[in-house]
Amino acid sequence: MKNAISIGLLGFGTVGQGVAKILHQHQQDLNHKLGAEAIIKRVLIKDKNKERITTLDPSVFTVDIDEILNDPSIDIIVEVMGGIQEAEAAIEAALKSGKQVVTANKDVMAESGNELMKLADEQKCDLFYEASVAGGIPIIRTLQDGLASDRITSLMGIVNGTTNFILTKMKKENMTYDDALAEATRLGYAEADPSADVDGLDAARKMVILSSLAYSTVVDLADVRVRGMKEIRDGDLELAAQFGYTMKMLGSSKKDEAGIEVAVEPVLLPDSHPLASVNNEFNAVYIHGDAVGETMLYGPGAGSLPTATSVVSDIMAACRNLQLGVNGKRGHAPQHERVLKPDSHCDANYFYRLLIKDEVGVLARITNIFSHQNASLQSVMQHPSETGDHAELILLTHRISRQQHLNVIGKLEGIAEIISHYRVEGEESA
Ligand code: NAP
Ligand code: HSE
Repeated sequence: MKNAISIGLLGFGTVGQGVAKILHQHQQDLNHKLGAEAIIKRVLIKDKNKERITTLDPSVFTVDIDEILNDPSIDIIVEVMGGIQEAEAAIEAALKSGKQVVTANKDVMAESGNELMKLADEQKCDLFYEASVAGGIPIIRTLQDGLASDRITSLMGIVNGTTNFILTKMKKENMTYDDALAEATRLGYAEADPSADVDGLDAARKMVILSSLAYSTVVDLADVRVRGMKEIRDGDLELAAQFGYTMKMLGSSKKDEAGIEVAVEPVLLPDSHPLASVNNEFNAVYIHGDAVGETMLYGPGAGSLPTATSVVSDIMAACRNLQLGVNGKRGHAPQHERVLKPDSHCDANYFYRLLIKDEVGVLARITNIFSHQNASLQSVMQHPSETGDHAELILLTHRISRQQHLNVIGKLEGIAEIISHYRVEGEESA
């Protein structure tokens, strides 16, 4: 048993400072739970001239990563520097030198998590990544441990705080998209390049991590169907509200005998769905398991201390394993080859907003397109548009396949302007 466990912290930004704060402020409790003291021995930074307000001794800071990676007294590397290449190289080097690794880096885990986990297994090292998805929500452990006995059939998540913040501010405070994004950036929620948030890439990476765990397989980023916030048109949020729906940027993944389907896109949720009331930067993950039924985890998806809570819990798990000498025993590798569902098996209700010429017969031509595709409509509503000779048509289907939806879209293009279209999710629980 060790009395002290040494940590090399790679990065001292939003998350890294939170980690240092929690280790300092909760020190006594942590010492008690671990039976050892977890000490930050070195910290990697990029800019040595930046002012650092911290209780750490200035001598721990370095700009030379090798001083940390090559220090044999460091037990655990905590990677919270972000980026892909350097972070991945650091994780790989740490594992190769037999160190335990904790990371908050969804980019690296989504792109190379499988290879890194294999390396960790070979090296008999831990590689923990709880903070990589949904900040302070313990979703990775829930999938790995809490729901390990169940068979997950679907998972829906608001897993990007920035886009949820923007949609909430636009809906509830009439803020413009640009102002809401600027505010999310100022509050530290957005990525360094916020297009990763608004175009759906950040959420797609998180859905790769969650879906791989939920279905014990290896989902690739390229498997995720992604539509970003650009697809949302002026007036769509209000229109959705008139129909009793709330617009959310949603990650969804489903598995049945036909395979797996993973998507990130703006969707309409019934106002009564639990995910519809998840607002601002909060995240939530709604899981359906064969045995447990429906369950939802909710909490802050970003921010210094919430995210650091997950990182420190991972540090504690690695410390406990070190004390017991059982690092690197994750139990099992992914079990299944992933099979992706064909479009003909991806079912949903669809919502279409069309601009049509307001003339005799056009409505019949449009509804004919749906009936030729065997796509049943549950409601059709015509709105006058601001230009007198046009009208807006809102159509809502019963469950149809994505293939039927794509066929409908293809045929509609000659007759109407498709202003927007969305999947409607979560109707079963409404
Ligand atoms: P951040 O505030 O930008 O901090 C990054 C830190 O890493 C800074 O201290 C920076 O040094 C250092 N750094 C970056 N590149 C470096 C390099 N090449 N060499 C040496 N030091 C380098 O980032 P963050 O928000 O803490 O995010 C860190 C990681 O956590 C990312 O992977 C992010 O996706 C993930 N994450 C963040 C949140 C969140 O709410 N922020 C939530 C979940 C997950 P300087 O201080 O000298 O600039
Ligand atoms: N940019 C991310 C978000 C940070 O908004 O959710 C947390 O991963």
